[in-house]
Amino acid sequence: MTINQIRQRLRDFIHSSEKVTVLTGAGISAESGIPTFRGPEGFWTVGSREYHPQEMATFEMFTRQPFEVWKWYLYRIGICAKAEPNSGHLAVSQLEELFTDNFTLITQNVDNLHLRAGNSPDRTYQIHGNIFFTRCMGECAGRIQSLPEGLHAKKKGEVLTEKEKQLLHCPRCGKLLRPHVLWFDETYNEEYYRFHSSIQTASQTDLLLIVGTSGTTNLPNQVAWQVYQNGGTIFDINIDRNPFSEIAEKSRGGTFIQGSSASILPEIVEIFCKE
Ligand code: OAD
Repeated sequence: MTINQIRQRLRDFIHSSEKVTVLTGAGISAESGIPTFRGPEGFWTVGSREYHPQEMATFEMFTRQPFEVWKWYLYRIGICAKAEPNSGHLAVSQLEELFTDNFTLITQNVDNLHLRAGNSPDRTYQIHGNIFFTRCMGECAGRIQSLPEGLHAKKKGEVLTEKEKQLLHCPRCGKLLRPHVLWFDETYNEEYYRFHSSIQTASQTDLLLIVGTSGTTNLPNQVAWQVYQNGGTIFDINIDRNPFSEIAEKSRGGTFIQGSSASILPEIVEIFCKE
């Protein structure tokens, strides 16, 4: 597909009242300095062993070593808090401004950067949660709460104080608080992760922009297949080919666009704005 064909295909959407969905992964935050999930920076040492995120981010690990898992999350919270939204995030928030009620953002990122860039909480489905929130492991499980006041980000290797461990208990029932994120040994649901809303959005989507994801998790794959099967158009924006590239190329008028999200997404917004 030539650049002019891509431009023309995108222009078709701005004049119609068609539904636009953006599906993002760790790649969009890479240029904000947040390491991607499968990059080499993900490892974490507990005792004399190196753990991969796929071992740390599990209910099983949390049950065995809750404060080691919290140390890891407090370290990651520090990285996310210091990061700033980049031009890719800002472009996604401009897309919401342009398409208003016809726009939905489905993000796998827990770093909060889309909301900080201006996307609205109502139209943003954080399907893997948000690292800045917690939930009670016990009977208060339904309540999503902000991080307890007085709890601070940690440097790598820094231990938790007794006071901090105390703060990581639910103020209502005294059970442990957990990060409000989907772990590898858990399943999606609507209540916390907008599972059904995402599938429903996909079933109505005319244009899907997939950005910076390696396509390894279940719900994003279901979203892409749903859009494809309904005859929607898919653009896959990524620095490397990935499992979504082929679906995009097979979709009606869609394609794989190789490049960084921080440069490609603003170009897409510009195409829409010129119309
Ligand atoms: P990955 O780390 O698996 O993949 C990041 C993707 O971003 C890769 O395809 C890169 O090629 C691409 N990428 C990197 N830099 C980019 C850039 N500047 N512009 C565009 N693309 C870029 O991250 P995810 O696909 O998000 O789930 O991983 C999905 C989920 O896997 C995560 O949310 C997490 C993990 O398991 C849970 O924790 C449940």
